[in-house]
Amino acid sequence: MTRKILVLPGDGIGPEITAQASRVLAACQARGLDVEVEEALVGGTAYDAHGEPLPAETLAKAEGARAILLGAVGGPQWDTIEDLSKRPEKGLLGLRKNLGLFGNLRPAILYPQLAEASSLKPDVVSGLDIMIVRELTGGIYFGQPRGIEERDGERVGYNTYVYSESEIERIGRVAFEMAQKRGKKLCSVDKANVLEVTILWREVMERLAPEYPDVELSHMYVDNAAMQLVRAPKQFDVIVTGNMFGDILSDAAAMLTGSIGMLPSASLNQSGQGMYEPCHGSAPDIAGQNIANPLATILSVAMMLRYSLDEPALAERIEAAVGKVLDDGLRTADIAYPGTRQVSTSEMGDAVLAAFEAL
Ligand code: NAD
Ligand code: IPM
Ligand code: MN
Repeated sequence: MTRKILVLPGDGIGPEITAQASRVLAACQARGLDVEVEEALVGGTAYDAHGEPLPAETLAKAEGARAILLGAVGGPQWDTIEDLSKRPEKGLLGLRKNLGLFGNLRPAILYPQLAEASSLKPDVVSGLDIMIVRELTGGIYFGQPRGIEERDGERVGYNTYVYSESEIERIGRVAFEMAQKRGKKLCSVDKANVLEVTILWREVMERLAPEYPDVELSHMYVDNAAMQLVRAPKQFDVIVTGNMFGDILSDAAAMLTGSIGMLPSASLNQSGQGMYEPCHGSAPDIAGQNIANPLATILSVAMMLRYSLDEPALAERIEAAVGKVLDDGLRTADIAYPGTRQVSTSEMGDAVLAAFEAL
């Protein structure tokens, strides 16, 4: 049966970067990838058209797709929508929750050609290859109760940081299995010195460890982890953490690779259905200028081929094509430095396609 792929360009730079990634997907189709591709609206653009950031039609298409490619959602024009449930970000969170995409893989890999683009010294980041496994459908993002209400004559805002043992266990298993396939080191990041929810998190990780005797499990508090990521990032192999800590640490890890425009992601459920998106946002400050880096989105297509479509050879071909354009010195503005050739979003897409065809 032909598998369906849903492309959700979203807002800001979303349409610019997904346009380039869609070209790469089409090149894969031309090489025999048997998929049917369709598009739908999500985020602010969906709100403008239908009054909802996740229209029922989009959700139904997403449910019927084997994989989703999403650009980004959000932007200042929607930050004042009073009804919080209508904000663009709720569209993205709704997709994650409705499809049960609890396992978020965020690989921070330094392409050797970009050692000079990192804000850290080349020897600190050269050879960097970290996998952050972020829990994506629970924690403080979804905990109840939540809200803003009047108490004693002033307003208070509150959220609930909650994880059940089963939620911790299933993300723990994803991370242990990932570590088994890689460097066999797993660092669980928590705040178990303060928060009960992460005392439980740590206990469950410890309980799972004997089932993965080849994996060395360690624990680190999140504040230290943020510091260690910048001090000596190569000490990490796989990091597993909750929803909010994973959000923050993955943006920090992104910068180690030269730019947040380089970091792809996969969000998976138990059946291998997945949503693939760059880790960055809609970058309103550079939207519409054809200067955004499309590589994180293009590399997200490679992750889609690997994790949802079982096409590792095509995934490697895309990754090799990205390596080739970087070898050739092509750079979007975010990763450019003296001696490299600055190109636009669409020129970067052209170059990746040409390299993909030539390999
Ligand atoms: P952002 O990631 O959009 O931008 C942060 C900085 O990184 C900006 O200076 C931006 O220009 C730069 N940047 C991001 N992607 C880039 C790329 N591909 N190439 C070059 N530079 C890039 O984060 P923000 O500014 O905090 O958020 C902007 C909007 O995006 C907000 O509405 C936020 O809610 C939303 N957001 C969405 C997602 C998502 O859809 N997955 C993720 C993060 C933020
Ligand atoms: C991300 C984003 C989202 C998150 C927002 C836009 C809801 O920052 O995908 O990293 O916090 O998960
Ligand atoms: Mn984020």
